[in-house]
Amino acid sequence: MNDFRNSRGRESHLQGTDPSIKSVLSIALIGPDEDRRRAFMNVLSGRQSTEIQEFTSYPTNLDDVPQTIGNRFDVVIIDADSDPDFVFDLVARICSTSPACVMCYSGESDVKQAVRFMRAGAREYFALPLVPAEVAGALTRASIPQAASTVVQAPKTAGQVFVFLGTKGGCGVTTIAANFAISVFTETSQSTLLIDLGQPLGDAGLNLGMVANYSTANALRDYARLDGSFLNTLITKHETGLAVLAAPSEFPKDQPPLEAFDRLIAIARQSYHYVIIDAGSRVDLMDSSIFDESSTVYLITQVGISELRNANRFISQYFGLRGRSLQIVLNRYTSSMLLFDDAQITKALTRPAHWKVPDDYSTARRTLATASPIALEDSSIAVEIRMMARSACGLPDEKKSRKKSFSLFGK
Ligand SMILES: Nc1ncnc2c1ncn2[C@@H]1O[C@H](COP(=O)(O)OP(=O)(O)OP(=O)(O)O)[C@@H](O)[C@H]1O
Ligand SMILES: [Mg+2]
Repeated sequence: MNDFRNSRGRESHLQGTDPSIKSVLSIALIGPDEDRRRAFMNVLSGRQSTEIQEFTSYPTNLDDVPQTIGNRFDVVIIDADSDPDFVFDLVARICSTSPACVMCYSGESDVKQAVRFMRAGAREYFALPLVPAEVAGALTRASIPQAASTVVQAPKTAGQVFVFLGTKGGCGVTTIAANFAISVFTETSQSTLLIDLGQPLGDAGLNLGMVANYSTANALRDYARLDGSFLNTLITKHETGLAVLAAPSEFPKDQPPLEAFDRLIAIARQSYHYVIIDAGSRVDLMDSSIFDESSTVYLITQVGISELRNANRFISQYFGLRGRSLQIVLNRYTSSMLLFDDAQITKALTRPAHWKVPDDYSTARRTLATASPIALEDSSIAVEIRMMARSACGLPDEKKSRKKSFSLFGK
């Protein structure tokens, strides 16, 4: 019962009339639990124009997914309950390596779990008992070829880089960078990587409640052999599906050369549509390709004497010639009780700030305590960060846009 290669085939054929719709849909039904798999099979059994293979276990090795699933199936239906964490990785892997439409089913109707799997790439999520008409509708949608843009895959051109830099420690770089990354991923559904280069010990992963086995130290130490697959093995996936290359959890002994950072950014851009970098307040990386003209730099500052003084120096010394590729963010902004008015702030910054992230202590504190991302809520901080992300990715301004949820089900 635990051999993924053990499968039973069954075929039935009927020619469709619309040539853009597949005439025979090949389906993999993967479910270690006999009862739940049977329940799904019973609904599928009545359908014509399908070719079904049942699998009584999950694939044992995710690296084999391109061979075992690859282009063999139009639809892959997976029991989410037997090993949810593994299935989450399995869904993400299938969606990134195969054009198949992935659907999940579960004995529980757990909305959080459903959203989690949808964010990994599943197009449908069914709770048992099944409604045959819902399954039929989902299979009909799956039989219509998907637009290439909705398939998660490596970008055809180099990914866009967004660098977050603080004018002083504690300005809010990690808070804004991590939540911007989640917003970019959830708003665009395109592959997105957050790289934490914060020093001395970056905490983007910690803020997102993640435990990472590998870090930037592994990538930068072995940069000569860094390629897309090696980078992939160092990534930790956040529950939203965002890819994170965390900072090391121990103080690094050596400082890697700038070419190590250049290589990391080059490989990241080859592999992801969007690359977001938490650069802390690192001036030492200013000559690396992280700060190339092609990157957009978000300079995070607060409205304090030293922060504005530093912002002025950063802009005049490093970014004076940048146009839209420098975006200035005032964090913890309140319109009252400021030491400076808007005209004085603009003068110090040599230009108006592009974004104002409100001061919201209770949201920041609560989300830190629960390690749940601000971006997934509808607080004032989240709304502003989501606007920043949508603007960065060329999406229309949706000031009041709410989190995507069940609209993704296509129902
Ligand atoms: N808009 C905000 N409103 C309220 N609190 C905020 C806001 N932005 C950040 N904070 C809080 O400020 C503190 C510092 O934020 P954060 O760790 O993001 O800063 P940082 O610039 O990354 O710091 P470091 O220099 O240590 O890397 C955190 O406790 C965070 O919750
Ligand atoms: Mg930080």
